[in-house]
Amino acid sequence: MTDKRETTEELKAEDQTIDLTLRPRTLAEYIGQDSVKGNLKIALQAAKKRKESLEHILVHGNPGLGKTTLAHVIAHELGVGIRVTSGPAIERAGDLAAILTSLADGEILFIDEMHRLNRTIEEVLYPAMEDYKLDLVIGKGPGARTIRLDLPHFTLIGATTRMSIVSGPLRDRFGMTFRLDYYQLKDIEEIVRRSSKILGLKLAPEAAKEIARRSRRTPRVANRLLKRVRDYAEVKADGILDLRTAVDGLNALAIDELGLDQIDRRILETIIDKFHGGPVGLNAIAAAIAEEMETVEDVNEPFLLQLGFLSRTPRGRVVTAEAYKHLGRRPPATAQPMGI
Ligand SMILES: Nc1ncnc2c1ncn2[C@@H]1O[C@H](COP(=O)(O)OP(=O)(O)O)[C@@H](O)[C@H]1O
Ligand SMILES: [Mg+2]
Repeated sequence: MTDKRETTEELKAEDQTIDLTLRPRTLAEYIGQDSVKGNLKIALQAAKKRKESLEHILVHGNPGLGKTTLAHVIAHELGVGIRVTSGPAIERAGDLAAILTSLADGEILFIDEMHRLNRTIEEVLYPAMEDYKLDLVIGKGPGARTIRLDLPHFTLIGATTRMSIVSGPLRDRFGMTFRLDYYQLKDIEEIVRRSSKILGLKLAPEAAKEIARRSRRTPRVANRLLKRVRDYAEVKADGILDLRTAVDGLNALAIDELGLDQIDRRILETIIDKFHGGPVGLNAIAAAIAEEMETVEDVNEPFLLQLGFLSRTPRGRVVTAEAYKHLGRRPPATAQPMGI
């Protein structure tokens, strides 16, 4: 258990360094998500023209799709500073007040994991977002009074992987909402090519395609796989980054041809073997495979749903006939066809 946790932490640290080297800085470098970029360009131009701060923006999407990157890109495009914090990091109203009062006009406050912001903090945020005012309570008990402070005209960019649990009143206070979806394959391929250029690699075009195909259409995963394939090539293939090496390297990582990893397969196999193919709740699945509920819900489930390997029913998750076939098993007569 401890070992596994350490590996995950190591992976995270390693991912962060690659993330930083490979992170696009400008809108032009930000690949894919064309409709988001299109709307954003208009908003950026309008704000610049009016010399006003940009409207508050809420970005949602699964982990690794580019929410944090987008926030930094926006700051860069506006030529303004960005302060970064996250929902769970803001524990008391005073923490938020300190951040808000330290901002300059036009600057960006990026709050990651917006859905984990506690409700008392949200209350402080409402007037700040709407009127650029901060209500401070001074003193305690009967002598307590409220004073209202003016705040700089900042732009809040909130990010969340769980739009459904961001409170309604908070959502309503954002002027724009952008949803990042899984990338198109051609965009992921471009990201892999761009990354290999930055890392100074000579990657065969078919190898780039193969990495893209197995990347869950997620930029962070694509970059991670690229790095792994590079390591594999150095150790096992004299640094040659051709299709063969990519396939061998990806297979060695137990990433299959659809991009499923061991955890995805364990989820499907567990539902099949322990829960007769479902329906079963996500909690029970996470417990049965000893993975964190949040990872299963944020990372694995959306991808399996998108592939049509899982379907959601009122009574829980069900494995589809397609998933049985992918795992090389015979679907029971009762298994649902894909996409229902
Ligand atoms: N549109 C994009 N174009 C190129 N690379 C991207 C893009 N979006 C994300 N990435 C890469 O993926 C990594 C993870 O993105 P990140 O913004 O941290 O995701 P999130 O905040 O949604 O979890 C980034 O460091 C960057 O290298
Ligand atoms: Mg992020």
